[in-house]
Amino acid sequence: MNTLLKEGLPQGTSLLLVGPPGSGKTSFCLQLALDTIREGCEVLYLTTESTPTNILAHALGVGLLQGDDPIGQKIKFIDAYSWAIGMRKDEYAIDRINNPSDINKVSLVIMNQVQLLSPSSLVIVDSVSGLTLASQMKERIRNFIHVLAHRILRQGSRVIFVLEEGAHDVAMINSLRSLVQGTIRTRIIDEDGCALRRELRILSLIGASPLTSWKEMILDEKGFQLKGD
Ligand SMILES: Nc1ncnc2c1ncn2[C@@H]1O[C@H](COP(=O)(O)OP(=O)(O)OP(=O)(O)O)[C@@H](O)[C@H]1O
Ligand SMILES: [Mg+2]
Repeated sequence: MNTLLKEGLPQGTSLLLVGPPGSGKTSFCLQLALDTIREGCEVLYLTTESTPTNILAHALGVGLLQGDDPIGQKIKFIDAYSWAIGMRKDEYAIDRINNPSDINKVSLVIMNQVQLLSPSSLVIVDSVSGLTLASQMKERIRNFIHVLAHRILRQGSRVIFVLEEGAHDVAMINSLRSLVQGTIRTRIIDEDGCALRRELRILSLIGASPLTSWKEMILDEKGFQLKGD
């Protein structure tokens, strides 16, 4: 994780990020996205649960972005959310997906954008669960992840697939784990009415030392940090 946060995801990595709602998955992805752009690489971010405008506002709100920093606007958002709530195309979206439960169409839109990326880019799908919840098509989800991961790795880029814990059964998540090179989990702990604690754990990741224990994720004005690092 130290390596992850300081040096970004290793090249040629495909990753699942699995955790319950509110456990910090999107915030973690945003931190990686902004770091990747600061290093001069491109980021393609497919969003299913929030508009790009709201994601950038969130980054500002939690201190991942400063008010005068235009770097967030360099994220290439594919907006698969606005359509569902009857909104127009978001100003920060480079493309939009109407009816994201049509996974073939989703694939097509992402592939079109992926082929325009230069090597060392980062692709984030936040989240796979948001694309497919209504349809529950296990084989299609597997195929979607398999094909997309293969394509992105072949061109020397990296990809993170976010999965909401609880939206898929354990067998499904385990089966998806076999399609990628690493899995990171997040969780959220409510300690007797104290502030909520968010924790992260690397289950497996090629090219990084495994982190076997849960570590607390601190999100403050210095950005994302793991407690004890
Ligand atoms: N490490 C952290 N410390 C404190 N607050 C955090 C931390 N990570 C995230 N948060 C806050 O928790 C809320 C949920 O975070 P986030 O949206 O990243 O979670 P998520 O897992 O993507 O949730 P969802 O499943 O709803 O998409 C946000 O308001 C965010 O500011
Ligand atoms: Mg989220």
